[in-house]
Amino acid sequence: MPDNITRTDVLIIGASAAGLMCAIEAGKRGRRVTVLDHANRPGKKILMSGGGRCNFTNTDISADNYISHNPHFCKSALSRYTQWDFIALVESCRIPYHERDLGKLFCDDSARDILNMLLAECEQVQADIRLDCHIEAIEKTDTGPFRLTTSQGTLQAASLVIACGGLSIPRMCASPLGYQVAEQFGHHVWPTRAGLVPFTLQPQDRERLSPLSGIAVHATVSNPRNRFSENILFTHRGLSGPAILQISSYWRPGEPIDIDLLPDIDLAGELKSRQAAQPRVLLKTVLADYLPKRLVPALLDEDSANAPLQALSHARLDDIARQLKHWQIRPGGTEGYRTAEVTLGGVDCDELSSKTMESRKVPGLYFIGEVVDVTGWLGGYNFQWAWSSGWCAGQVV
Ligand code: FDA
Repeated sequence: MPDNITRTDVLIIGASAAGLMCAIEAGKRGRRVTVLDHANRPGKKILMSGGGRCNFTNTDISADNYISHNPHFCKSALSRYTQWDFIALVESCRIPYHERDLGKLFCDDSARDILNMLLAECEQVQADIRLDCHIEAIEKTDTGPFRLTTSQGTLQAASLVIACGGLSIPRMCASPLGYQVAEQFGHHVWPTRAGLVPFTLQPQDRERLSPLSGIAVHATVSNPRNRFSENILFTHRGLSGPAILQISSYWRPGEPIDIDLLPDIDLAGELKSRQAAQPRVLLKTVLADYLPKRLVPALLDEDSANAPLQALSHARLDDIARQLKHWQIRPGGTEGYRTAEVTLGGVDCDELSSKTMESRKVPGLYFIGEVVDVTGWLGGYNFQWAWSSGWCAGQVV
């Protein structure tokens, strides 16, 4: 009697960046691979990434661009499958791309090019991708294979790869399944929180700053753990833009952040020399040379902004410069998983092999991509982690 169980070599949960990369590599080795995903389409986050153009990697990658309780863990995978390996794959498929600031590589046309490339490679190795597939239970006996009960029947395999990402953007099918599976098999999972996420403001700051919505300024944003020089963006809800998203991953609730709105300028020196040359000019007129006009009245008191430079003492000019170069703002919170690009925390790296991503507790079980406690900066680092970790597992599953 047939038992209606689908037997395969490798089961992968999650048909997106990490899962598809792993499927391709395992398939190239002749392994029979089945990828399961509860979404109705694969790679939804790839499609929405990089404003629809997918910032698929970065030319400059090191472990310093990642946050983890074990900062060394990501080194092995990132050095075994590098950004240059992924770029070579993109070039071999003739996908046009370009470099933006800070080494970020984007598709010229569409993120769909990256997803189509991965799906074509999966097809070539005959990986079976099953969508709308809901995982109901995962079991494993000591010596037996993994057995998955799903909405599409029972499947079993000796290798199970968890590639179902983190908690960010629930409407894009994010779920806690990866963390639950880890805990089911005795793994420690570091508490998760939203990363690369806009800040919301305290009510009084929000009232003062929401009229600035739409203004972008180049700034250096810092806290005691890191600093980033990129744009910040005022929004009707709070603060966003690349520098804010970056520092959000290093932020602790209740803490202020320090924003230098004129990072390349010695403002105090500049104001004093303008005072000597044009004493009657108003402070706000001088500042309008450096900052968007609407910003100044929101950050400085009206009397100072409207004063001629000659009416301001050197000490007052120093103070004004400090206010703009060390603007301290205490966010009310973040927008949370609803808009976060990534999830910090996750499956504890110390219980995984850094070379293969295999569990040190349960042979045959692998964790790859965002579900692992490795979170990249903004700039293509998260996809590179997905490609590298997926590739490593694909060599051995
Ligand atoms: P990913 O989240 O991509 O995939 C997980 C898969 O598992 C999904 O297909 C999901 O449906 C499936 N799944 C989840 N739960 C399941 C369950 N219970 N049962 C079955 N299947 C389940 N990074 C970057 O480097 N450059 C960029 O440009 C961007 N841009 C960007 C924009 C936005 C808006 C977001 C939200 C994120 C980014 N990122 C990014 C981050 C990047 O998208 C992310 O780090 C990777 O997609 C992670 O890849 P994974 O394959 O690990 O998870």
